[in-house]
Amino acid sequence: YHIAVPANEPVLSYAPNSPERKSLQAALHAAKSHVAELPAYIDGKAVFAGQEKVSVHPPHEIAHTLGHFYRGTAGQVHEAIAAALRAKASWAATPWQERAAVFLRAADLLAGPFRARMNAATMLGQSKNAYQAEIDAVAELCDFFRFNAYFLQEIYREQPLHSPSPTWNKLEYRPLEGFVLAITPFNFTSIAANLPAAPALCGNTVVWKPAETQIYSAVVIMELFAAAGLPPGVINLIYTDGPVVGDIVFKHRDFAGLHFTGSTGVFRHLWKEIGANIEKYRSYPRIVGETGGKDFIIAHPDADAEQVAVACLRGAFEYQGQKCSAASRAYLPASLWPTIRERLLADLATLKMGTVEDFSNFINAVIDERAFDKIAAYIDGEKGKAGREIIAGGGHDKSKGYFIEPTVILTEDPHSTTMEEEIFGPVLTVYVYPDADWEKALELVDTTSPYALTGAVFATDRNVIDQATRALANAAGNFYVNDKPTGAVVGQQPFGGARGSGTNDKAGSALNLTRWISPRLIKENF
Ligand code: SER
Repeated sequence: YHIAVPANEPVLSYAPNSPERKSLQAALHAAKSHVAELPAYIDGKAVFAGQEKVSVHPPHEIAHTLGHFYRGTAGQVHEAIAAALRAKASWAATPWQERAAVFLRAADLLAGPFRARMNAATMLGQSKNAYQAEIDAVAELCDFFRFNAYFLQEIYREQPLHSPSPTWNKLEYRPLEGFVLAITPFNFTSIAANLPAAPALCGNTVVWKPAETQIYSAVVIMELFAAAGLPPGVINLIYTDGPVVGDIVFKHRDFAGLHFTGSTGVFRHLWKEIGANIEKYRSYPRIVGETGGKDFIIAHPDADAEQVAVACLRGAFEYQGQKCSAASRAYLPASLWPTIRERLLADLATLKMGTVEDFSNFINAVIDERAFDKIAAYIDGEKGKAGREIIAGGGHDKSKGYFIEPTVILTEDPHSTTMEEEIFGPVLTVYVYPDADWEKALELVDTTSPYALTGAVFATDRNVIDQATRALANAAGNFYVNDKPTGAVVGQQPFGGARGSGTNDKAGSALNLTRWISPRLIKENF
């Protein structure tokens, strides 16, 4: 049994009249034609009960109801933990090849019969256009499943020990002792699925609490896992409120690890909770988190201005700027600014905004009203302020859906609010620096934000590229040269940041998987 180095799942184009466009349209139609009852899953069983029935709407069409879920109870958290612990012994003892096979099958099912449905669920539930859904919910998720299976094989193969006669030394790659909690975000279906799947692949069992705004596609993920043969209880999906989940999980003796993507504030809070309860646990829990960002683009005066403009547009506005990697502050040289500005504004003027069902819309809605209000307040807060100019967008309307125009703010102050704070929406703030201040601009990039997730530098001179790479050594976990800071591909650019952006246990790499493994050394004399 050998898993060859996987190829990345090809991204389909969804061109008009293509077969994939037709099947996706059929799946969108089917999803919109009925109101789905969205179950939690505990021990492999669909659970249609909880403390409160909540309806789910497309963020771009709030008058339409996609489905209902039940906000869970404390009792369901206990049941999910019990199910995970019951499933643990046999799953941990399942040969790794069989565990890997489940996820390899899941990848093939996702690339085939589940493709249209998973994309449709992500488009409608999370307001992604077809391309954004395809690169996330299908391509990236297939890649997570396939590459993680391959990386696990490589980890298990490694026996970096000498065994001088008459001893035999062996590293046994056990899962953690207990269960893992996955807390997942709305913005990537692939991340939501990978956070429970990666520990499960390593032989752990998991309680999975998704963002409420991603439940519509989370249910499809659970159906995919079941179709691929994942045994009941290995991944249990619950919809109980975070504080209730934390109160139970973080006091449980068998809590063994947290796999988290979400805000810096929540992650710090959870870390403190775990620390406060440390005596209660059998083991030190593994804490893996990817959190906030204030991702940058910086261009040197010798950069290609057109390339910078395209990177600003795609990096800042794809998926309405709701990628953790999205560019939200740009440092651009005065000499290039007129060209960059002209191209950026011309391209922005061609972008259409609206529902995901019209495939020509590049910009869709932001995820919910809370996000809308927060982003709109940041934009409105800059309006009419001295030293600020909104040069594109600025408008917003939540009457039909949570629509915010892609907005570019020009600031004379490199420490203005929108240069410093994470907004998580379609807002790019630009600071134009005098060409002679390139080194000062590098310094600003490094010191302005507490985060260090992604960033991009644009330059042509190799010495300048090297200088920026050195100066920004700790400013981004994913550092791009002459490319936008978004769109990491599994197996090509393992993803994660340090400083306030997380524990940097690169998603989609062997480094991440080792966090879900607790090796035992066995020495035997013969
Ligand atoms: N992996 C995504 C990207 O690189 C962000 O989570 O855009």
